[in-house]
Amino acid sequence: MKTELVIPSAAVYERAGEILRRGGLVAFPTETVYGLGGNALDPDAATKIFAAKGRPSDNPLIVHISSPEDAENIAYTNETYYKLAKAFMPGPLTVVLPKKDIVPDSVTGGIKTVAVRCPSHPVARELIRVAKVPIAAPSANLSGSPSPTTADYVMRDMDGRIEMIIDGGQSEIGVESTVVSLTGDVCTVLRPGDIIPRELYEVVGEVAVAEAVKVPSAAGDNPESPGMKYKHYAPETQLILLSGEREDVISYVNNEKRKKAVLSYSEDTGKYKDAYVIDIGSADDPKSQMYNLFKALRDVEKADADIIYANLPPENDDFLALYNRMIRACGGEVVPCLPLGEGGPLAVDEEFTI
Ligand code: TXA
Ligand code: MG
Repeated sequence: MKTELVIPSAAVYERAGEILRRGGLVAFPTETVYGLGGNALDPDAATKIFAAKGRPSDNPLIVHISSPEDAENIAYTNETYYKLAKAFMPGPLTVVLPKKDIVPDSVTGGIKTVAVRCPSHPVARELIRVAKVPIAAPSANLSGSPSPTTADYVMRDMDGRIEMIIDGGQSEIGVESTVVSLTGDVCTVLRPGDIIPRELYEVVGEVAVAEAVKVPSAAGDNPESPGMKYKHYAPETQLILLSGEREDVISYVNNEKRKKAVLSYSEDTGKYKDAYVIDIGSADDPKSQMYNLFKALRDVEKADADIIYANLPPENDDFLALYNRMIRACGGEVVPCLPLGEGGPLAVDEEFTI
């Protein structure tokens, strides 16, 4: 199959809409990351999405709609949904609700709930409007790779696997939407994103965060969000996260003799020696780090390093999405760094795995 890379125009939306209505796949930009879209009401389209991504088909897809009220067609909504919709939609929030029968089981991986999202990106919105069908779309990467934040990264993963990629520039947020479930008693964050628990709390009063968010869960677990159980976002080279004071992290990396790459805070880029350094943003600026993270995880392969290091993000609300993505990308490999002289020759405590 030939994959067309196009820039948005009225004619492109029409053609993309046709492709979707007849069961084909179109990748498109959203404010979070690029999505790999198919008609959410067509059971075969979902099957094609799983095949194109190489993704296990028990991992449910998010259904994208053009206005919050359109959730009525596919899900049983409630008052909390509309409170969240008023505050955050269109935008980077996905809400899990009980599903209506019109949504094929192949879209939800056989479960009785459906994840609903109304994106704010103008290209995504126009595409859904013109297609006249809700669009099921996971991130447009091969399963296990970092989510793509540009059309070029989508092309690298999806060339020959889908019909069209619409180029809308670099995704403004850079990590996937916040996923919350409204199927239990309390609004529960299943996947953190740009919208943080504190902001949700201000709207709905009570918010829980699923335990799986902070843990790189092992295969075979049964976390609330099936997507949590797969190793995600991982570069091909092993990534190790370093905890501790910034200067101790820098000394640790500078003591490493292997060919190394570092995802560095902007303030520290000049302090690493003999390393391939990628700036991921200022230490206290989670938004710029989110914007840069997936690009960095892809670009770092160019270093052809033996090992990749990055700082373990702080465990607070503002950095929760970064913590979640990075702990998965490293597969739980976290090494605490101690001040020089306190932890042996490499100033390192014993390695441990979360
Ligand atoms: O920002 C985003 O959400 C992007 C863009 C394209 O919209 N999409 C995205 O989709 O990240 P995906 O498929 O890569 O991630 C969807 C996540 C997975 O972790 C999945 O398990 C979870 O949402 N999910 C989907 N439906 C669910 C459901 N019914 N119940 C619980 N979790 C669900
Ligand atoms: Mg994904």
